[in-house]
Amino acid sequence: MTRIVHVNGAYLPEDQATISIFDRGFLMADGVYEVTTVVDGKLIDFDGHFARLERSLSELGIRNPMDRDAWLEVHRELVARNALDMGLIYLQVTRGAPGDRDFAFPDPETTEPTVVLFTQSNPALIDSPKARKGIKVVTIEDLRWGRRDIKTVQLLYPSMGKMMALRAGADDAWMVQEGEVTEGTSNNAYIIKDGRIVTRALSNDILHGITRAAVLRFAREVQMPVEERSFTVDEAKAADEAFVTSASSFVMPVVAIDGVALGDGMPGALTKRLRDIYIEESRKAAI
Ligand code: PDD
Repeated sequence: MTRIVHVNGAYLPEDQATISIFDRGFLMADGVYEVTTVVDGKLIDFDGHFARLERSLSELGIRNPMDRDAWLEVHRELVARNALDMGLIYLQVTRGAPGDRDFAFPDPETTEPTVVLFTQSNPALIDSPKARKGIKVVTIEDLRWGRRDIKTVQLLYPSMGKMMALRAGADDAWMVQEGEVTEGTSNNAYIIKDGRIVTRALSNDILHGITRAAVLRFAREVQMPVEERSFTVDEAKAADEAFVTSASSFVMPVVAIDGVALGDGMPGALTKRLRDIYIEESRKAAI
């Protein structure tokens, strides 16, 4: 079955979808994106992702080309047209294609934002072999720009970080600023010590994860203490458990940091519990 994608209002087979070579997303990484998970053919936390999309666009002064219901309609149409049961929907909005390359933003009256959405299937989303074993991370310096709260498509450094991790025999990298962990290449980072969950507080230093918000809410509901504060690499290596969260990995156990095993080197009990709660509650609330 050929994948059907969405480009600027049209549903097309992926091999017929095109955008301009002058698109500022392509030339300048001048665009934002969202990744929304699909479970049982339904969307997890659609409204959280829509709210963050609106915020990212407004921080960059890009007009939101559609209202909430129109975005929801496109998401649902793509799920239906691709018979998607488990996986994700990727969406990207750029400042459009003004027809020439210029550092100055084009006039929004004459240059429309570009909209692209596509699906990716992942049948092993919930029953994930990685989640059973846990992942290993290495730490690297955080060399990204200063507005990491905006979900832009400039993902070169996170991609380089992922490659540094793979070359070192690990699965992912945690980025570090002034000795303290900011976040993973494409996820938020947490440690657990003496039953307390610790994760960096929200600021421009990290992406305000939609999964993070849900997981912290569920943790507090079941009386797990949460501390939103920075933690050092040394503190992380001495933790009992660690994990990361993202739309595409839910709650993913971390079992080693820079080659130092946490606990017995297996996914921790509290992390497993949080993953189960997150999956159960999100499944119930999916639309
Ligand atoms: N990444 N931090 C970074 C740098 C991210 O790229 C992501 C998401 C997160 C977690 O955010 P959320 O819980 O809203 O997915 C944190 C997505 C999944 C990606 O780039 O594929």
